[in-house]
Order: sequence, then C-alpha cells, then structure tokens
Amino acid sequence: MIKMKVILAFLVIFGVHSIDAFLTIRNNSFYYGEDRVFLSGANIAWINFAEDFGSGGYAKVRSSYESAIDDISSHGGNVIRVWLHADGRWSPKWDKDGFATGEDTQSLIDDLGLMLDYAASKNVFVFITLWTLEGTPKPMMHLYYQEDRLQSYLDRVLKPLVVALRDKKALAGWDLVNEPMGSISQTQVDPNPCYDTTHLKDSGAGWAGKTIDFRLVLKLINWHADAIKSVVPEALLSNAENGELLTTNVCEKCRDHYTDECLIGAGGRANGTIDFYAMHSYTWEGRFAPTSPFLHNFDFYKSKKPILMQEFSTTITESHNASWNYRHIYEGDYVGIMSWQYNQWGKWVDTKESMFEGMGAIRNLTSHGKINIKL
Ligand SMILES: *[C@@H]1O[C@H](CO)[C@@H](O)[C@H](O)[C@H]1NC(C)=O
Ligand SMILES: *[C@@H]1O[C@H](CO)[C@@H](O)[C@H](O)[C@H]1NC(C)=O
Ligand SMILES: *[C@@H]1O[C@H](CO)[C@@H](O)[C@H](O)[C@H]1NC(C)=O
Ligand SMILES: *[C@@H]1O[C@H](CO)[C@@H](O)[C@H](O)[C@H]1NC(C)=O
Repeated sequence: MIKMKVILAFLVIFGVHSIDAFLTIRNNSFYYGEDRVFLSGANIAWINFAEDFGSGGYAKVRSSYESAIDDISSHGGNVIRVWLHADGRWSPKWDKDGFATGEDTQSLIDDLGLMLDYAASKNVFVFITLWTLEGTPKPMMHLYYQEDRLQSYLDRVLKPLVVALRDKKALAGWDLVNEPMGSISQTQVDPNPCYDTTHLKDSGAGWAGKTIDFRLVLKLINWHADAIKSVVPEALLSNAENGELLTTNVCEKCRDHYTDECLIGAGGRANGTIDFYAMHSYTWEGRFAPTSPFLHNFDFYKSKKPILMQEFSTTITESHNASWNYRHIYEGDYVGIMSWQYNQWGKWVDTKESMFEGMGAIRNLTSHGKINIKL
C-alpha cells in the first residue's frame, strides 16, 4: 500500500503525460507511451501550395484543415502529412540577399500550433514536411549553395519553431526534404559512394530539370537534422524519398544514401541524422518495381531504421484494392501508411472513398500496433 502511494505520488509529481507524450522509436516500431502504434492516414498535403502557414495564411485554410482532420479521424485514420515551406515562396521571409529574416517565425508557430492542437483533439498525428525537390524550388534554392543563408534559416526560423512546438502532442515528426530524387543527376561521379549517383542511370532521376550535387542535398539535410536534434533531442526526423533506389541496398541499382555516415560525411554535423525512412511507391506503366514495399514485408530490406509508407495511390497500385494495401503495409511491419492525397488534385491520386476504405479496414487492429489511440 505504501509502495503504491509512493508510485502514485511519483506519477503525479512528474506527470505521466509530460514524460511520454511524444512518439518514440523502439525495435523498429513507433511507440506512444507504452503502446506500439501504427500510423494510418493520408497526405493532405496543402490547401494553398506553400502558403498555408505563416503571415495570415492559416486563417484562409483553417476550416479546410479542420474538416479534413475530422474526416480522417472519423474514418479511423490517425495521421496526416502537411507541407510547410515547400519551395519557399511564402515562408520563411527573405531579405534582398536571401537571408531568412525571422519576421514570420512567430506567425508560423501560432498557425502550426492551432493546427496541431486541433489534430490532437481528434487523436490525429501530424508530420510536417519542410521543403521539396520534386520541382525546382526557386525561392529557396540558394540554401543549397550558401552556408550563411542556410544558417540564418536554421537559427531564425527552424530552431525557434521546433522549440516552441516541442510539447504539441500531435507532432509526430519533421520530414526535411520531399523527393530529392527529382533534382539529382544520374551522372554525378564521386569516389565516395554516398555522393555518386551513376547507379541512377535510366531511373528517371532529375525529372525536375535542374539538378543539384547530391552531396549538397545531403549536407542541407544533415544541417537541418543537427539543428533540430541539438535543441529538441527527442524530435523524430525522416526524409521523404521516392523509393528503394536511394534508401535501401536490396537491388543492384539500390544504394542507401541516407545512412548516418553519408549524412554526417556530407555536412560534418554530428547530430544530423534521420530516425526512420519515409518511402514513396508508385507504379510505372501499371507495375511496381520488384523491390516495392507493396511486394515485400519490412524485414526484406534488412533496414536498421523503420520504414513509413509515406506516399502511394491505390488507384495505380497493382491490387487496386485500398483495404488490401493498408492491410499489407500494416501486417508487413512497416510503421505507417499515407495515401496521396486528401485533396484529390492531380493525376495519380486516390479518392476520399478509397482512402477511407483503406483506413476503415484496419482501424480496430492491434496485432502490429494500435491505430485507435488517445492523444
Ligand atoms: C520486435 O519486433 C519484431 C517484429 O515485429 C517482433 O517479432 C518482436 O517480438 C519485437 N520485440 C520486442 C521486444 O518487442
Ligand atoms: C547534440 O545535441 C545535444 C542535445 O541533444 C547537445 O547537447 C550536443 O552538444 C550536440 N552535439 C553536437 C556535436 O552538436
Ligand atoms: C480487397 O482485399 C481484401 C483483403 O484485404 C479482400 O478481402 C477483398 O476481397 C478484396 N476486394 C476485392 C474487390 O478484390
Ligand atoms: C471497428 O470498431 C467500431 C466500434 O468499435 C465498429 O463500429 C466497426 O464496425 C469496427 N470496424 C471494423 C472494420 O471492424
């Protein structure tokens, strides 16, 4: 009895929630407190591309975000992914020399805070994607080349943002650069395999047109990751990459460029590594690559870090069956699945009915992690 009281006093004093209220990784799975969790949901990913947050942006889209979160939550989903700066056309604010001024940092904190609090009230986690290389990101491109400009962004925008949002229960993690493969060449020869891209011959890499030395991309990721980890060590980080060619070693043309060695080697910053892989998998002419996660379980990749199925569309999968797709990723020991995309914009996108069918099919399962969670 006395022992019990001591334990209770301990729980009251230290607060179970403040200790446990963030997602962690153990044994290649996500945990929330003591529960293994599986994240099931959808990409939103934006309402007004690049302009949803900061400087008054959220007031215009808040009702759309809230109804999307309601919709995903009520159909059994527990996660969304949103894009923040994207190409940098709206946030952060730049001076005439390309330094981030920090003048919109507080508005970014306020806007994201509103969205994260609403998501928490509906038991929905949120991944925030900072940048994209899937198209050429003209307004922020200089950050890949100018270290002092990059550092101004990290110090005046990213670090204050990460610190201010660290206690938001819905914040699952930070996703740094979407699809670098779109902006890297197929012919970069480098003696260090981390930065050599010649294995990408005939892969489609570089479709955005303008290419950047892969070493510079990995350096930017390393500096971002280090900036975040140095102020909030428990933050979970990933980098959204197209697929197996750049994130695994399971095929002749595959090479994992996101290892701790490659990232630290590129940028030199010791805390600048990622915690899990975020993969995208689409078919080409109706077929998956033979190494697609939709054809294998997680253990096939012999990965040291978890893998999240971050983007796919049932409409162009081989099964054409949302229930099957969500269930396969769930039972295959991946850590989550997110359909592209809630707004149904563009060509290869799922309908809401399809993604809700997938989320609904697995919403009550627990064997490979709980989906029905309380934040
Ligand atoms: C670790 O994960 C594997 C695969 O899901 C599972 O079989 C094993 O029981 C887990 N170990 C622990 C200690 O949870
Ligand atoms: C890494 O981050 C920790 C805090 O998480 C900090 O104390 C440490 O100084 C950082 N290390 C380096 C080399 O920056
Ligand atoms: C979709 O997959 C599920 C298994 O997850 C199966 O029970 C169902 O019959 C499939 N539906 C169709 C139309 O093939
Ligand atoms: C999940 O549970 C809810 C309520 O607990 C129930 O209404 C629903 O039918 C279940 N769905 C499935 C697919 O088992």
